[in-house]
Amino acid sequence: MQLDRSDVPLLQAAPDELARFDEGDVLFETMLREADGLGPVYVRASCQACHAGDGRGPGLVSRVAVVERDGVTPSRDQTRVPFGSVVRPYAAGGAKRAVLAPTDDPSIRLTHRFPPAVFGRGHIEAVADEAIEQLARAAAERTGPIRGRVNRVTYQSLRNPGATLHSYDRGTPNLIGRFGLKARVATLDDFVADALQGDMGITSPLRPDEPPNPEGRLDDAKPGIDVDLTVVNALTDYVRLLEIPQRRSGSARGRELFGRLQCATCHIPSLETRGDYPVRGLAAKRVEVYTDLLLHDMGPSLADGVEEGSASSREWRTAPLIGLRFSGAFLHDGRAKTLRDAVLAHGDPESEARETVRAFSALNDEDQDELLSFVSTL
Ligand code: HEC
Ligand code: HEC
Repeated sequence: MQLDRSDVPLLQAAPDELARFDEGDVLFETMLREADGLGPVYVRASCQACHAGDGRGPGLVSRVAVVERDGVTPSRDQTRVPFGSVVRPYAAGGAKRAVLAPTDDPSIRLTHRFPPAVFGRGHIEAVADEAIEQLARAAAERTGPIRGRVNRVTYQSLRNPGATLHSYDRGTPNLIGRFGLKARVATLDDFVADALQGDMGITSPLRPDEPPNPEGRLDDAKPGIDVDLTVVNALTDYVRLLEIPQRRSGSARGRELFGRLQCATCHIPSLETRGDYPVRGLAAKRVEVYTDLLLHDMGPSLADGVEEGSASSREWRTAPLIGLRFSGAFLHDGRAKTLRDAVLAHGDPESEARETVRAFSALNDEDQDELLSFVSTL
């Protein structure tokens, strides 16, 4: 019997891929120290601190934004958060001052990002652009409140000579954002380089600059670039090769309701992948990701005051429904402690999902339970 785990490699991984997986696995768990280049400011010292078991938390990221009086519209003037919206509460490598959230400033909104899981993210990267564009076209033609649009983004890293997927350079425009809670990044290597730099203060050839900090330090205890390309690419391949945790056989009634209530209009059960994706087991497949990878306006009650690319304060990428049983909290900030609370939180009067929630609330208790039980098996 297979153990119920969230950190297994792709079942179809080839031996060379398994070797890459093991290499990246070690790096993912490594606690970095000042001598490795941690800092000058950082949030946590390992990937695992925020993605334990490749899942969600316990570490998280706090964000600050200057907002208008309504509390959700980002202000044009963000000068009161001079080091950007990410709170980096620790200093290291000679630095003394961290990036803390300003207190007692009512115009600054503090929110938290509960990390998404990283398993099944190769499946997401492999999805063909055309499949996502087709969903966006269908969404634009729909009547009714459910919309959905692509977050068009630029590649933000320098060129990655070890990349097997693409040859983008910094500034390559018009890519489909897929990663991050607002789909602000197009590829996994770009995201991993961003996580190293932004969460840990670890610079790499893809992201050579230390994060902005109050002392204006341009370096830390390890002079120059902290890790080489092989580290970024091993971590990237590790994330790519993580299997979707084994699904359980869900309630047929629940699955039917998932479609009927239009959960499946945003949480698209499966998508086609590209034929040339470098992980063979993921090329030219249908992958069950339960997302359309599009942005949706979820209304002011889920807004965070932060804009990313073209994504507004109120917009979020449809959360992939993968391995939810490994998480103790749901939604971008983990505010929902149960799946029921997560569904009800879709129901803001200005949310695209409002009618779905109305239909959910109109179900009898037994049907509600069938639907939630189906979601819990995904
Ligand atoms: C301080 C906590 C923290 C650390 C450390 C951290 N992450 Fe994350 N991770 C997050 C959060 C929060 C998000 C969502 C980011 C966003 O939307 O801005 C995220 C998102 C991701 C995603 C995108 C998943 C998706 O569904 O879009 C990947 C991949 C990822 N992290 C990999 C890593 C790797 C690899 C490392 C180590 C190099 C790492 N993370 C370190 C908190 C963290
Ligand atoms: C308009 C598109 C849309 C519809 C319709 C929709 N969702 Fe969602 N769903 C989202 C978005 C966007 C998020 C992420 C919101 C956030 O994090 O603040 C989400 C998040 C979730 C989560 C939390 C997942 C996690 O990892 O935290 C669950 C569970 C969920 N949806 C289930 C459902 C169910 C069940 C239905 C039908 C009753 C449904 N959704 C209908 C867009 C939609």
